Amino acid sequence: MRVGVLTGGGDCPGLNAVIRAIVRKGVQEYGYDFVGFRDGWRGPLENDTVRLDIPAVRGILPRGGTILGSSRTNPLKHENGIRRIKENLAKQEVEALIAIGGEDTLGVAARLSDEYGVPCVGVPKTIDNDLSGTDYTFGFDTAVGIATEAIDRLHTTAESHMRVLVCEVMGRHAGWIAIHSGLAGGANVILIPEQRFDVDRVCAWVTSRFKASYAPIVVVAEGAMPKDGDMVLKDESLDSFGHVRLSGVGEWLAKEIEKRTGKEARTTVLGHIQRGGTPSAFDRWLATRFGLHAIEAVRDGDFGKMVALRGTDVVRVPIADATAKLKTVDPKLYEEVGVFFG
Ligand code: F6P
Repeated sequence: MRVGVLTGGGDCPGLNAVIRAIVRKGVQEYGYDFVGFRDGWRGPLENDTVRLDIPAVRGILPRGGTILGSSRTNPLKHENGIRRIKENLAKQEVEALIAIGGEDTLGVAARLSDEYGVPCVGVPKTIDNDLSGTDYTFGFDTAVGIATEAIDRLHTTAESHMRVLVCEVMGRHAGWIAIHSGLAGGANVILIPEQRFDVDRVCAWVTSRFKASYAPIVVVAEGAMPKDGDMVLKDESLDSFGHVRLSGVGEWLAKEIEKRTGKEARTTVLGHIQRGGTPSAFDRWLATRFGLHAIEAVRDGDFGKMVALRGTDVVRVPIADATAKLKTVDPKLYEEVGVFFG
């Protein structure tokens, strides 16, 4: 059997570990061979392939990024996209396709599988941890580790200058990275996209922290928005996903804090640092297990399914269910850790 593999959407640490596990188990246990498609769905759409065998995956376990490349190409938005994909898979004699991606990449895999008879298995990835159906996605732990280290470092410089330091982390639609790294790093305020924040409350807390001789750290997810709506953060452009681009909540908030409290404030935007570099041990472990289970699903002919972590078990869930709705931070959890805490 010949199996195609692609990685789509924003990259994340652990992608290479999944690819390696799929290929090693597929070749050594099942005698399969593989073809890699370049740059997500662009690969099968344009018949752009890369060699994928044991030598190709040697030494890639600890490497960030993806040896297959990635893109946000959505074949459903291309004329004759489905037909072209089917033709190219036939040309490559591919009998099963493993798509490793987030909501959008897997959304396409679900439709190809369920509506167009293309045999797909999905592997969930995103640093944002906002995919339903799985307790965790790989990449998230690495991103949280990077953000936590940054927050630790911000504490010492904030204290030296008695300044407010605002740390903007990734998370357009969900505050998982913010809430985990903010809690782990002992942030005083954590702001997430799921709940609009009150700038005056943030400022009151900042002031109270200074009174107690602490320099406050504010962690804000890039998609967090204030209640009063007096912030113009949306630019008119849409990204290739069709999402409105959000920019600058961290900068904006630091300026507001300075204006309203009279305290000096600075912003650090962590950006793509959270997505780059070597995966944590947990992410390597999770990504490898996902890869092993994905190729098992192919062997079982269990298509239209995504591998997922439930507790400590890896299970299979319908891709369509996992991509129907984003997994956002439960208000109860947000309340439990305390919106403002010191
Ligand atoms: O992978 C998800 C994500 O990291 C979001 O948190 C972030 O908003 C987005 O990707 C950035 O995407 P891009 O690299 O395409 O700008």
